[in-house]
Amino acid sequence: MKTIIEPFKIKSVEPIKINTLEERREIIKNANYNLFKIKSKDVIIDLLTDSGTGAMSTQQWAGIMKGDESYAGSNSFELFENTIKSIFNFKHIIPTHQGRAAERILFSIVCDENSIVPSNAHFDTTRANIENRGAEAVDLMPKEYKNVELYFPFKGDMDIEKLKNLIENKSQDKNIPLIMLTITNNSGGGQPVSMDNIKEVSEIAKKYKIPFYIDACRFAENAYFIKKRDEKYKNTEMKDIVKEMFSYADGCTMSAKKDGIANIGGFLCTNDSFLAEQQKNLLILTEGFPTYGGLAGRDLEAIAYGLKEVLDEDYLNYRIVSTSYLGDKISNAGVPIMKPPGGHAIYIDAKLFLPHLKNDEYPAQALATELYVVGGIRTSEIGSLMFGKYDDETGEEKFADLELVRLAIPRRTYTQSHMDYVIEIIIKVFNNRKNIKGLKIIEQPKYLRHFTASLDIK
Ligand code: F0G
Repeated sequence: MKTIIEPFKIKSVEPIKINTLEERREIIKNANYNLFKIKSKDVIIDLLTDSGTGAMSTQQWAGIMKGDESYAGSNSFELFENTIKSIFNFKHIIPTHQGRAAERILFSIVCDENSIVPSNAHFDTTRANIENRGAEAVDLMPKEYKNVELYFPFKGDMDIEKLKNLIENKSQDKNIPLIMLTITNNSGGGQPVSMDNIKEVSEIAKKYKIPFYIDACRFAENAYFIKKRDEKYKNTEMKDIVKEMFSYADGCTMSAKKDGIANIGGFLCTNDSFLAEQQKNLLILTEGFPTYGGLAGRDLEAIAYGLKEVLDEDYLNYRIVSTSYLGDKISNAGVPIMKPPGGHAIYIDAKLFLPHLKNDEYPAQALATELYVVGGIRTSEIGSLMFGKYDDETGEEKFADLELVRLAIPRRTYTQSHMDYVIEIIIKVFNNRKNIKGLKIIEQPKYLRHFTASLDIK
């Protein structure tokens, strides 16, 4: 067996300030119990997101210096476009400043108020961009996968029967402009989607002549899970697994802040030339000329190198093993987590962790704020604060099915000793769980409320 260590050396460091429990109590109160309102200098270990927070390589930094900042026809765009074509094999590559800009462009063009967009599970910005068009975003996860503690190797799969039902039984005035598959499934625990499922969704899409798009944010992690968990692919090279995954799709949206290991950037790919023309026109209006999108030439370079580095097997092995190291250690101490551990994150089940709290006490947010107070660890809530909704007629709040706290691990950023500290704090909080109090919302915006809502102890 190969030894697994961080397959990189640290060349540049950023100091972490170790603040005190008393200071953190004050900070969280002033931030209205919303972790998005806390300054990063007040965070010891930042697991809020794996998005744009990874450490870039020497090769990427060299690319930053080489960036060609020409408005049109930049060399850096050529590198970006060729790299993406060689990995994903789509005809048209449209750069955007991040993933949600690709989503906005795609859904602005294909969706109207009669549209329904099915997915295994939409990420919050994807859902918001669809709903912003007056359309409906539908999640089609198999029911049994909602049992967080049960093991399934490909817990990110879409429920094929539900998809068929939706297509065949939708009312005449409704349309399905595309089917989406999020790999790995971020809202569903960072779980991978199997190659078989990708293939099946594609076959249904073809049968009903519906375009099929992949939300590709964590495509390399998904591909590595396929290699490890599907016997058929154990000897297949990463680049070939990725090629096959995307060969079934008509296009993709991508946030390069994840598996592009870049601090900013994204892109939209499609094989549909007519659609690409419309997308580029909208891009010029809101993002920039099609050879830079919303990015600088140097960003295009960093993304191109990042997309290649992310497919390195030593890197992926370290990535997946180090995420499950955290998951397995806290799970062995009795902490309820979504099983098996995901690719980019560990998800704690806050309903099981805090059984004494009710839905309207936002257990996942209560746990996330406690982890900050006790250890300066910033995580994110993926529960009712993020997904709760008010019924238009009754005004009553409908709570999310799952109350999760996500510990998202930035790529190549923290060492095993940082993770050991995180494990220690989680176990400490778990042992004291009975004393954790619920929260209430005091103020909130209409969309994406978790970013700006104010809360207080209930
Ligand atoms: N799709 C998925 C599956 C995502 O996880 C994200 C972002 C996006 C789309 C949007 O990309 O941020 O570049 O605009 N997820 C981040 C997260 C924010 O923390 O999981 P973006």
